[in-house]
Amino acid sequence: MNKNNPIGIFDSGIGGLTVAKAILSVLPKENLIYFGDTKHLPYGEKSARSIECFSTKIAFFLKEKKCKMIVIACNTASSLAYESIKKIFPTIEIINVIDPVVNLIYKNKPSCIGIIGTKGTINSKIYPKKIHEIAPKIKVKSLATPLLASIIEEGFFNDKISRVVLNKYLNKSELKNIDQLILACTHYPLIQKLIGKFYNNKIDIIDSSSQVASHIKNVLEKKDLLSNKITGHRFFVSDYTKSFEESAKFFFGEDIYLEEVSSIH
Ligand code: DGL
Repeated sequence: MNKNNPIGIFDSGIGGLTVAKAILSVLPKENLIYFGDTKHLPYGEKSARSIECFSTKIAFFLKEKKCKMIVIACNTASSLAYESIKKIFPTIEIINVIDPVVNLIYKNKPSCIGIIGTKGTINSKIYPKKIHEIAPKIKVKSLATPLLASIIEEGFFNDKISRVVLNKYLNKSELKNIDQLILACTHYPLIQKLIGKFYNNKIDIIDSSSQVASHIKNVLEKKDLLSNKITGHRFFVSDYTKSFEESAKFFFGEDIYLEEVSSIH
């Protein structure tokens, strides 16, 4: 494997850009191939079988692009498709966004942790399962917050609409008395400020992107796969939309040229 080959990253839409940005901030010489599966967004509402099918097709696409590593920058796909992708692509390093966060929780040892994510992620119960495997005494409270990813995808980051919906969810009894909150959806860091405000910045809010980025750095270092040559990033979507392009540019902070791929059905 050539160390200057790109890192492949995918999500249903712009959420994975939070991970892409974090990777580039610790590994500025890496070249990324980003795939947003906009045709099938939101992932959180789809069946496990569909998520596995979309994710596998995207992983094949990233493999064809010679990616040295595939980052599943989506909690829903990490919950429902990671194990099967790992089996199908045994020679490529596959990274999910859940394990690095669970390891951080183990170090922090909160007494009661809250988790918000899509229906797919929350219903899979993967977080309580993985947390309790290593720290059985931590109390875990979970709540599906299905509207948030779509609102964010439509560009409502920090305004009245996102605030009203968010407050409605965070006020629910399911999340009472938590001392940390995990953002178990890669879209949610885009409204992290609002979430912090809701809690008067009194509880820790855990966003997976920096944890995942430092984990990726460790893995690449160990495998002697750190890139030393910048060749540029490429951004693909399964369905071109202006709103995606605008949100992606706004959030990534660079001019992004989107390429459409029609082979992911
Ligand atoms: N960003 C995704 C996640 O982390 C998916 C959101 C969605 O498409 O429903 O779960």
